Amino acid sequence: MNTLLKPFYAVVPLSLEELFAEELKKLGIEKFRLEKGGCWFGAEMSQMMQVNLWTRYASRILLKVAEGPYRTEEDIYKLAKSFRWEQYFTPKNTFKIELSSRRSPLKSVAFTALRVKDAVCDYFRETDGQRPDVEKHDPDIRIYVHLTDKSCIIYLDTSGESLFKRGWREAKGEAPLKENLAAGLLGLAGWTPDKPLQDPFCGSGTIIIEAATIACNMAPGLNRRFGFERFRGFDSTAWQRIKKEARMAVNFDVPVNLAGSDISTLIVDRAQKNAVLAGISQWVNEGKVRFSACDAREVQPSSETPGLIVTNPPYGEQSNPKSASVASMMKNVADNLKRNFAGWAVWMLTSDRELPRQMRLKESKKIVFFNGPLECRFFRFVMTAGSNRKEDVSQKETSSD
Ligand SMILES: C[S@@+](CC[C@H](N)C(=O)[O-])C[C@H]1O[C@@H](n2cnc3c(N)ncnc32)[C@H](O)[C@@H]1O
Repeated sequence: MNTLLKPFYAVVPLSLEELFAEELKKLGIEKFRLEKGGCWFGAEMSQMMQVNLWTRYASRILLKVAEGPYRTEEDIYKLAKSFRWEQYFTPKNTFKIELSSRRSPLKSVAFTALRVKDAVCDYFRETDGQRPDVEKHDPDIRIYVHLTDKSCIIYLDTSGESLFKRGWREAKGEAPLKENLAAGLLGLAGWTPDKPLQDPFCGSGTIIIEAATIACNMAPGLNRRFGFERFRGFDSTAWQRIKKEARMAVNFDVPVNLAGSDISTLIVDRAQKNAVLAGISQWVNEGKVRFSACDAREVQPSSETPGLIVTNPPYGEQSNPKSASVASMMKNVADNLKRNFAGWAVWMLTSDRELPRQMRLKESKKIVFFNGPLECRFFRFVMTAGSNRKEDVSQKETSSD
């Protein structure tokens, strides 16, 4: 076993675990174990930096520093105090404890977190004579504690801010999708940059912008900072090299056809601005990435060659959904798609399980997908001119519930 390998845990949205494993393999990381909502992997510190920089799907990369059984808060205090924290930070750094638990018998999460904070402070006081301060908003070091019914794992967060934040978003549309979920939708839909992509409910442009950065091979973390940059002993030379390689890997000289539209001109404006902030203004100027104001009931295909629509239309929890108006709008959207988008694969993310019925379409695939806490379905409808009325469809690929 390579002693330089450290144990990491990636927090990954449900349904995207396999896609994340593919990313690890691409980065040469072969030792990993997937579980629901996450992935354990062994990697060197420089590989951890690369995973943070390149992953499109993970939300956070954690470094496991201690693990043990517990029955009381004092067991957790001892576990937290047994780690040599000075390997990663000093009393001059600020820190913060976050705690999550599943089936823990302990009464107070807040009190347990406080005991871990005490353990870290006591450790430094005893070894160094000083203690680090707690900082709630922008700590140098984030310590995560996870409790199950019997065991406790303590992690250092290597990511800092959640990885869905690519560092470009300023303006928000209505209910923007997180960037790692947008990437996940594109991955699950099997979109590749050679295929035209259209999002007729584009909002702030997340799906189209994420697709553009995939197509030009721009590392998703190129324009942001990471938690590991504040670690003691952080190898800044290696990090500069990794970032330089990533900058050199960006290639705008490839054909792409990406189009987003939204009914709101204000929101389309924001999507345009976001595209510039995300560093793809060259493609906006060249017309390879286009945003326009248009009602999805009237939108036309963005390319003669059929491609993919990947979109999340407005739904329930977001805009008083069960409202007849959304349902009837989606019926009209479906009529337009049937009329004008023959040959296209249409993927829609919604929390409304009635969507296929509203659209009078039978899905050819559906995937359970969580948009934050909201359980959604990611439906695929294949547009085969005229033959897609619900009663006509005889083909069904997969259906998960
Ligand atoms: C759930 S949001 C999409 C969010 C988007 N994926 C993002 O990340 O920002 C739905 C969007 O549909 C737009 N919308 C509502 N009705 C529409 C219609 N008939 N045609 C086109 N867009 C519409 C809203 O303006 C809103 O931006």
